[in-house]
Formats: sequence, structure tokens, C-alpha cells
Amino acid sequence: MSLKKIDPTTTVAWKKLTAHFEEIKEVQMPSLFVKDESRKETFSACVGDVDLDYSKNRMTEDTLKYLLELAQEVDLKDGIQQLFSGKKINATENRAVLHTALRNKSGKSVLVEGQDVMPEVKKSLSKMKSFSDAIISGTLKGYTQKAFTDVVNIGIGGSDLGPRMVVEALPFYANHLKTHFISNIDGDHVAEILKGLDPETTLFVIVSKTFTTQETLTNAQTVKKWFLKSASEKDIKHNFVAVSTNLEKVSAFGIDSAHIFTMWDWVGGRYSMWSAVGLSICLAIGFKNFDDFLSGAYMVDQHFESTSFDQNLPVILALISVWYNNFFNTESEVVIPFSQYMSQLVPYLQQLSMESNGKAVDRNGKDVHYQTGNIIWGNTGTNVQHAFMQLVHQGTKLIPVDFIGFSQPLHGNEEHHEKLMANFYAQSEALCFGKSKEQVHLELKFANKLDAIGTLLPYKVFEGNRPSNTIVIKKLSPYSLGSLIAIYEHKTFTQGYLWNIFSFDQFGVELGKEMANKRLS
Ligand code: F6P
Repeated sequence: MSLKKIDPTTTVAWKKLTAHFEEIKEVQMPSLFVKDESRKETFSACVGDVDLDYSKNRMTEDTLKYLLELAQEVDLKDGIQQLFSGKKINATENRAVLHTALRNKSGKSVLVEGQDVMPEVKKSLSKMKSFSDAIISGTLKGYTQKAFTDVVNIGIGGSDLGPRMVVEALPFYANHLKTHFISNIDGDHVAEILKGLDPETTLFVIVSKTFTTQETLTNAQTVKKWFLKSASEKDIKHNFVAVSTNLEKVSAFGIDSAHIFTMWDWVGGRYSMWSAVGLSICLAIGFKNFDDFLSGAYMVDQHFESTSFDQNLPVILALISVWYNNFFNTESEVVIPFSQYMSQLVPYLQQLSMESNGKAVDRNGKDVHYQTGNIIWGNTGTNVQHAFMQLVHQGTKLIPVDFIGFSQPLHGNEEHHEKLMANFYAQSEALCFGKSKEQVHLELKFANKLDAIGTLLPYKVFEGNRPSNTIVIKKLSPYSLGSLIAIYEHKTFTQGYLWNIFSFDQFGVELGKEMANKRLS
């Protein structure tokens, strides 16, 4: 069995959407709100503590109907079932895609080629638990018998971005250990990180699925050299651990076999933080919180697997994205979390989405003749309002936005939070409703700036009709973060499925690596 290979543009639904687009492309969202007072309720969905309001999109109930028909016609249901069931849907690499097994709390087995992977998953989680408990409590010590104070994650891509994003997002739940990340092969960065560290009390976690990645291996060797200035080879086993599938290469580096955390070929790099790749997360926030993070994702997995598509949050987000990408010809999506904790969300999503869906060959091996992967960009609110939002509000490009906000602040500073959330809601309203010529005219008149009416009026008009999704989460926690990330993972899968591409390989990153190696040889 493999994923169905249906060119979406050949479906009846696509034809309906094409005709429908002609009818709706000039429709102004404010008029849709006037026509339908319950629009906000109609275009909303929720899962756990995550509420999605997608009413501020250039769509009607017909749009949604045809998009849902598209999902049905390409048999998305079958695609989702194959994803969860351990079928080798990563056909170009002949692998299953089972990040969902890593957070499977159902007690049911998950088979890959007839073999249940759950015992291995549980074994790995229990090893992560005992190891992180021992490091956090200080029972397991560095080579001079001092308790650890710092953890350095050495990895890149999926072996860095996910763990980094989560650790940066959850300091509120963190213990005394300070976590650092080394990814870039830039020696200056490595030196800057090492400058502040004590080799006796620093634990190095080398994360590389393949243990062949140039950046990670070079950085690991540099760190080892630095460590050996104060310690000897036999001390490596106390201060270095590794997460990898390549046990041979890890052992050759000098890491004790007891301190190798394994993973499996059915976990893709950018989907791997739920495995031992998340060891730095586990060390930073403790196993209980890490387990809550998994539970939040599991809750969304169940939702994605079993909720009808009209209420299925990842499916809805993916359909909206296809609507803009393939009919409005938008090129990018901007993601704006209104929480400084989420400053690493966008770099993480960039890999998740663009490495997965930046493909131009379909599942039939043919060049696609329609647009696929979006450009993902963004930053945290309110900072973006003083940076790129000018272009989103008044520029010439149509850029759909995901606004992500939290109802409750973590430190209880209500005054700040009220201002933060006022901006959060104001941005999506301003984009949608804009400000007309007439409004600007009146404003200038009441401000007694009659001269400006002739000179400044056009510059002060906001045309509006600019789309956004509003995602509101009760509170930032390991559980809710796990849910949010799983939503984006499944959105990414759904987009790739609809575009008839393979979302789980990344051959596009190889050529640059080859050329860099040639230049070095
Ligand atoms: O960027 C390419 C890539 O293969 C990613 O998919 C992966 O996350 C990253 O490199 C790191 O790979 P590894 O964990 O094998 O070092």
C-alpha cells in the first residue's frame, strides 16, 4: 500500500474551486460579516485548549464545502490512516513515518513490517526518564564528581530546531540546568558558547540521527578537544552522551554505550523531538513535563485521526493554505506568535514546512504544474508591528497570517497581557476590516487637518480584506505546546498529501552539501 497519487487539479472539486474563485476573488470580507452575524461561530474549530477562529479569511461556506470535497476526492482519510498505521508512506526512502508512535498513549501496538515498535519506544522513554532524573537530581555527575549545571545540545536541523524551540518556549517549567545549543558550523559561535562553560559541570548531548552530518561532527570534535584540555579520554563517558541511529560511529567517538540514546529510521529529523532527540527538552523541564508535552500531541493525533474534516483543525488549516496558495497565488504565510517565549517557533516551522513540502515532483514522479510549499516567515508580536507589518497591511502582496496568542500570562502580569492581547486582536481586525477613504476623510476633518485631506489621504487608507487565522490557546504549557506543534505537523502532512508530493524526504538539501565537500577536498 502507498499513498494515493491523485493530481488535485484533475478533481471535480478543483474545478468547482476554480470557478468559485472567479466569483469570490473580489468579495470583501467585511461584507461577509455583515451578511452573516454568526460567521465567527461558523468558521471556528477547537481541539483541547486550542481555539481556531478562521472567519477572517476570504472564503464562504461554499469555499469550505468545495475544499472539503477536495479532501474527500483525493481520499485524505486513507492518507491519514496510512500515516498512523505504519505503512511505508515515505516511499522515496522506503520508510514508515511514525512520529505519532512516539507519543502514542493508547496502549495499542503500532506495527512496522509486522513488528510492534511500542516496546522500543517505551524502553527509550524510560531510559530518558532515569537519565534525566539522575542528572537533574545530581546523582549522576561529571568526571570530577561535581553535579551538572549546564547542558549543551550539539545538532542541526531537526536535531536542533525542535528541541531549541521547546526549551526556549518553556523556561517557566524549567529546573536549574542551563541549556545551550550549538548548531552552526561557525567556530566563533562554538567559541562563544564554550567561553562561559566549565568542562567539569557541562553535559554535552550530541544529537545526530545519522552521525555523519558535517556541522554536528565538526562541532562535536571541537568541543571534545576543548574538553580534553582539562580532562582525559576516559572522562568523555561521564560528560558526553549521544542520540543517534548510528551506534558504531557514536562508540568510535568515545561515548559509553550506556549513554547512547537510540532512534529509528521511521522518525524523520524534523519530526523527531518527541523521541530521544528531545533529551535536552527532558533535561531542561524534567520527564513529567516532557511526558505532558507528548500527551498534548497525542490528544491532537486522536483529533486528526478521527474528527470529521469540517471540524478537524489541522485539516482546516491545510485547506485554507491550499486555497490561498493555489487560487490566490500567494507565495508565503506569516506566523506571528504573541509570546516572546515562542521566538523560535518560526525557524522550527520553516524546516517542518519547507523541508517537507518544498518539492516540485509529484507522487507519480512527474513535475508538478501547480504551486506547492509555501514560504514560511514571521516573528513574535508585538515586535513585528515595528518591523514588517507595514508590508502585510499596506504592501502589494497578499500574505495570509496565523496569529497565535495565549489567554493567560504565566507570571500574572495582567497589565502587560491586556496590552499584548489588545494588539493581538487589533492586528487581525485591522487586516480584515481596514480603513476606508471615507473614514480617513472624517478622521482628518475632525482632527482639523483639512490640508492633509488633499495630500495624505491615500497613504492613510487601509484596503483591508487581508486574511488571517487566529489561534488562541488557554495557557502556554508543555501540554498545549505539544498540541500546537502536532497541529502544524499534521497541517504540513495534509498540505503535502493534497499537493500529491512526498513530504518526508529532503533530497533538496544534498547538492549543496556535496558541493561544499568538493570544495573542501
Ligand atoms: O537538513 C537536512 C537534514 O537531513 C535534516 O532533515 C535533519 O534534520 C538534519 O539534516 C540533521 O541530520 P542528522 O540528525 O542526521 O545530523
